Amino acid sequence: MSLSLRPITEKEWSAWITLDEEAFGNAIPPHRSELFRRNAEFDRSLGAFEGDLLVGATAVCSFTMTVPGGPIPVGGVTSVGVLPSHRRRGVLSALMTRQLADLRERGEAVAALYASEAAIYGRFGYGRAADNLFFDIPKHGAALAGHAPVDPALRLRVVTPAEARTAFEKVFEAALDSRPGLYARTPARWDAVLSDHEADQGGAGPLRAVVAEDDGGPRGYALFRIKQGFTPHDVPDGELRLKELFGLDPAAYALLWRHVLERDLVARVKAWQRPSDDPLIHLLAEPRHLNAGWLDDLWIRLVDVERALPARRYSAPVDVVIEVEDAFCPWNARRWRLTADASGARCVPTEDPADLTLPVTVLGAAYLGGRPLAALQAAGVVRESRAGAVRELSVAMSWEPAPWAGLIF
Ligand SMILES: CC(C)(COP(=O)(O)OP(=O)(O)OC[C@H]1O[C@@H](n2cnc3c(N)ncnc32)[C@H](O)[C@@H]1OP(=O)(O)O)[C@@H](O)C(=O)NCCC(=O)NCCS
Repeated sequence: MSLSLRPITEKEWSAWITLDEEAFGNAIPPHRSELFRRNAEFDRSLGAFEGDLLVGATAVCSFTMTVPGGPIPVGGVTSVGVLPSHRRRGVLSALMTRQLADLRERGEAVAALYASEAAIYGRFGYGRAADNLFFDIPKHGAALAGHAPVDPALRLRVVTPAEARTAFEKVFEAALDSRPGLYARTPARWDAVLSDHEADQGGAGPLRAVVAEDDGGPRGYALFRIKQGFTPHDVPDGELRLKELFGLDPAAYALLWRHVLERDLVARVKAWQRPSDDPLIHLLAEPRHLNAGWLDDLWIRLVDVERALPARRYSAPVDVVIEVEDAFCPWNARRWRLTADASGARCVPTEDPADLTLPVTVLGAAYLGGRPLAALQAAGVVRESRAGAVRELSVAMSWEPAPWAGLIF
């Protein structure tokens, strides 16, 4: 198979959509195709062509993403797919190799993605950097604990998503720096979040919203759908499907959760993609009723170790020599001395002996601060040659709150 790699042009949009539909086995309705197109940066797409046939694709979104210490530019990798007739012949490997080189050339030291399957991206140097939780909370387990904060100045406003978009954007922007992994949203991405065609509804009715506010403005919002239903004996059996909930302070957060959990005629609340340290865990009177499940959220790849490591802040002083293994990006594969103190962080090449040896996936997994290294050491992924070095690096890289992007791209 002879492949050529180049950006996909706007004129080739329908071939790109067809490829996506074939790879994922779905049908993309026209309005969603249009939303994808408006979110796409064609000059940052990469197609693999066999002759004129598009057989594989990927693209990058230019994100500003919060990492420990503040926002940095991050390449958000998306739209990865290979035509089923061409799978397992190295198309994705070719795309990933070129894309990582392009990211480095452009000066983006960090890449991020959501994975359709957890087995795909480790070989390309991505590490599982964040987790998310999904909840299935029955009405009988929905009571909040006595300590749930209440602020009499706060009130709820039932709104349509369209009329309250400015309030959502204001809240989200205020929340952006609060958690590693959150990334700034363009207007086109907000359009996708608030898209409410029948195909978006999954049989659960229109997008509904409430805003928590006081005289100073919005302090939080919840977006959700309700699949209304009754049992054969006419007992209310509605299901509230939470799409997004942000509260800028504990009282707003508690009020919004209280609202979704107590909605009349709702028998259960299903929430997906909640942060792994969701305060709700500590707000419910009986958190076992969360019926929580666990999934991988963001995957992170240090495209350029030398630039990525100093681009974040550290929780404790550190001075370690790290031997990085990286078959895919050979410029990273060497020993680096990472030092950090109150004045900032530095990462320089060194010939000094290694304190610890790890694959680049581990630096990606730990980059946002949510992946302690001890378990990776116990699993044999990290090897220590100076006693205490793993703990030193792990403590320095840890960060609170837990990383989470909360919105698939
Ligand atoms: C996932 C996908 C892009 C892989 O493309 P591909 O061209 O078949 O991948 P490659 O041939 O370059 O595979 C490289 C290696 O990864 C492995 N691999 C690829 N996809 C894998 C998967 N889903 N699970 C486990 N291993 C996988 C291959 O076996 C190969 O291993 P090897 O080097 O040891 O032989 C393709 O199967 C696809 O389009 N899947 C459906 C859509 C999808 O899930 N996209 C990803 C969205 S995040």
